[in-house]
Amino acid sequence: MLRAVYPGSFDPVTFGHLDIITRSAKLVDELIVGVLVNNAKSPLFSVEERVKILEKTVENIPNVKVIPFEGLLVEFVRKMEAQMVVRGLRAITDFEYELQMAQTNHKLEPELETIFLTTSLEYSYLSSSTVKEVAAFGGDISQFVPHIVIERMQEKMDKKGECKL
Ligand code: PNS
Repeated sequence: MLRAVYPGSFDPVTFGHLDIITRSAKLVDELIVGVLVNNAKSPLFSVEERVKILEKTVENIPNVKVIPFEGLLVEFVRKMEAQMVVRGLRAITDFEYELQMAQTNHKLEPELETIFLTTSLEYSYLSSSTVKEVAAFGGDISQFVPHIVIERMQEKMDKKGECKL
């Protein structure tokens, strides 16, 4: 049984993440989307909200599970009995950070491999931070994120009295 973990903050999940999830789910028996609980970036969505949004987003992909995690990724991967980590690479700017993370994880857990999928061309510019910025200034984010994200963001912004999406 080949099981992989696709970890991230997913604040919020974008079509770029979904692209990596869909493609990597085809390569393994089970894909676990690991949602980081403690995020120093003070997330827009709580971990519970991010998990719910992701579950809804991947509901049609039968071999994908969404599970929150705290602490070291290598511990989570061990607990999940997964053999590898999947990450998406958009551009050269991602490379340094991703290399550092993959090599650190490999040092911590030598049996663990990280595999990289290059993001599909149409999503190579996309990030959760830019989506949040566009939304905060009232821009249309429908080409960047699943519909459920727009609904949840709209609710958040309405509560805060910020711009409409
Ligand atoms: O979506 P992100 O924010 O780029 O994902 C980063 C993530 C969650 C993969 C990374 O921050 C992580 O693995 N955090 C857990 C803590 C950890 O294991 N750190 C050591 C690896 S350098």
